[in-house]
Amino acid sequence: MKTIIELLQEEVSQAFAKAGYEERYGKVSLSNRPDLCQYQCNGALAAAKQYHKPPIQMANEVAGLLQGSDTFQEITAQPPGFINITVSNTFLADYMNQMAESENFGCGKTEHPKTIVIDFGGANVAKPLHVGHLRSAIIGESIKRTARYLGHKVIGDVHLGDWGLQIGLIITELRHRQPDLVYFDESYTGEYPQEPPFTMADLEEIYPYASGYSKENPEYKEEAQTATAQLQSGNRGYLALWQHIINVSVADLRKIYSRLNVEFDLWKKESDAQPYIPDMVAYMKEEGYAHLDDGALVVDVKEETDAKEIPPCMILKSNGATLYNTTDLATIVERKKLFDPDTIIYVVDKRQSLYFEQIFRCARKTKLLDQEVELIFVGFGTMNGKDGKPFKTRDGGVLRLEHLLQDVTEQVQEKMADRQMDEEAVKTAAAQIGLAAIKYGDLSNQASKDYVFDVERFTSFEGNTGPYILYTIVRIKSLLAKVKEQNMMPAQDQRILPGESGTETEVMLALSKWKETVEAAYQEQAPHKLCQFVYELSDAYNKFYHENKIIGQEEADIRASWIRLSRLTGDVLETAMDLLGLEAPERM
Ligand code: ARG
Repeated sequence: MKTIIELLQEEVSQAFAKAGYEERYGKVSLSNRPDLCQYQCNGALAAAKQYHKPPIQMANEVAGLLQGSDTFQEITAQPPGFINITVSNTFLADYMNQMAESENFGCGKTEHPKTIVIDFGGANVAKPLHVGHLRSAIIGESIKRTARYLGHKVIGDVHLGDWGLQIGLIITELRHRQPDLVYFDESYTGEYPQEPPFTMADLEEIYPYASGYSKENPEYKEEAQTATAQLQSGNRGYLALWQHIINVSVADLRKIYSRLNVEFDLWKKESDAQPYIPDMVAYMKEEGYAHLDDGALVVDVKEETDAKEIPPCMILKSNGATLYNTTDLATIVERKKLFDPDTIIYVVDKRQSLYFEQIFRCARKTKLLDQEVELIFVGFGTMNGKDGKPFKTRDGGVLRLEHLLQDVTEQVQEKMADRQMDEEAVKTAAAQIGLAAIKYGDLSNQASKDYVFDVERFTSFEGNTGPYILYTIVRIKSLLAKVKEQNMMPAQDQRILPGESGTETEVMLALSKWKETVEAAYQEQAPHKLCQFVYELSDAYNKFYHENKIIGQEEADIRASWIRLSRLTGDVLETAMDLLGLEAPERM
C-alpha cells in the first residue's frame, strides 16, 4: 500500500505532465502550515527557472487541472507559487479502510529481506547491569523489532563482555581471599566442582572492591593483568572460575533483560570470537594489511579526507596480547561465517564512536566483509540526572537497574492508589506502566542525544509519556469491551465512513502516517519517530473521544464507523508500542 504522500504525488505529478512540465516537480510533502492545509507541493517554485514563467501561473495551471478530482477537498495555488492541498474526507476514509484490511496496516513487508545482526545490550559479566546499559538494551530492542516487523531476518546478539580485565581482577581477589580453592592448585588435574564458589551478590561486592583496590596498588593491578593473560592462554583453573562467573552472571542478566522485555536470539560473548583470532591475524599479516609499529601490530586506517586524526587500529599489543579491537574484528569474521549478514548494527554508547570508525575502516580495508555489507553504528548519549550529570543514586552510587525499575513501579503504584482494582491487578499494571515510563522516556529522545532522566515527568499520565499512551490504549480497550457487552460490535465489512468533524479527520491523518513512520524508524534507526507517531495519534484520538459519545451515537452507521476507527487506532497503537518493546495492561 502506498503512503498518502505517494498517492498525492502521483496525481499532482501527472497534472504537471499534463500541463507540459516535468513530472518530477510534482513532489508533495506534509504542510508546513497545518492551519492552512494538510499537504503542499512547492514544485512550481522550483520549475520557474527551467520554464521562465511566474511560479504562481504554473501552480494555477496544475491546481486547475485537479479541480474535479475526488482526492481533494481543496487544492489551490498560493503566491508566490505553492500548491496547498487538503484531501477529501472520502479519500481519507477509503485510505483508513484499506489500512484496516492490509498486511501490517498498509506497511506490508519488504520485498528484499536482509539478514541483519544487531549487537546490543553489551553487558559485562561479573559486573552488575546498571543504568548505563539500559539504553543499549531498549534502543536495540526497538530497532530489532521494527526491522523484523518489516520482514527482515534479524539476529539480536547480546555480545557479553567476558574476556577482559574484570575477570582477572575477580580471580586475583578470590586468590587473596581463598588461596586454598582448588582452582589455584596448579598440580590439580581432576574435575572442578559444579557449584560456583561465589554468588552474584559476592561478585557484586568483589568486583568493585578489586577494581578500586587495583587503582591504588600497581602490584595488585599487575597481578590481575597477569591473571587475565593466563586465563586467555588457557589456565585450566582460571577457565573453570571464568565459566562459573559466566554462569552466575548470565542467570542474573537473563532475569533482568526479561523484566525489561528485551530478548536476544544469541547470547554470544567476546570469548566466542577468540578462536578466529589466530587465522585473522595471520591473514592480515600475509596480505600486508598489518605492520609493526613500536612492537605492536597495527592496521593504518586514516584517510586523506579526514578532518581529524584517526589513529591506527591496533590488532596485537607489543606483548602479543589481544585487545577489545581484536575481539570486535574477529567477531565480524565469526558473524560472516555464521550468518553472512547484509548489515551489522551496533548499539553502543556514542563515546565509542571513534573506536567503531576504526573498526569499520579496518574491516573494510582488510576485506573481512564484502564491500556491500553495511556497518552501522548507533551511538547513544548519556542518561543524566536532573543535575545534568550522569545518572546516579541519591548517595552517589551507580544504581542497579532492578532497583530503578522497583522505584519507578512503586511510584506508579502510589498514583494508582485510588483505583477500584484488586491489589494484584494494580501490581501487574504498575509494573507494565513503570516499564513504559522508563523505556518511553528514553526512546522518545533522539538516541544520539543526552537526556535527563526525570521520573516525575516520565511517570505522569499526561503529556508525551509512556503511561499516557498506555492510558489511551486502555481507554480504547474498555470502550470496545463495552461495545461487545452491548452487542454493538460492527460487522467485519462495516466501513469507516468519511469523517464528520475536524477531530475525526485528525485521527485519520495521524493514522495515515503509519507506513512512513515505521519505514523511517527502521531506515534511520530512530525509535523516537515511533514515539512521535503514537503521541500524535493518542492526542488526536483523545480529543475525538472527548468530543463524541461513541456508544451513545444514535445513528447506527456512524456509531459503527466510529467503533471501527477506534479499533483501528487501538490496534495501530498497540502495534507501535510493541515495536517500542511495550505492552498495555487491561486496566489502569
Ligand atoms: N561491553 C561493552 C561495554 O560495556 C559494549 C559492547 C559493545 N559491542 C561491541 N561489539 N563492542 O562497553
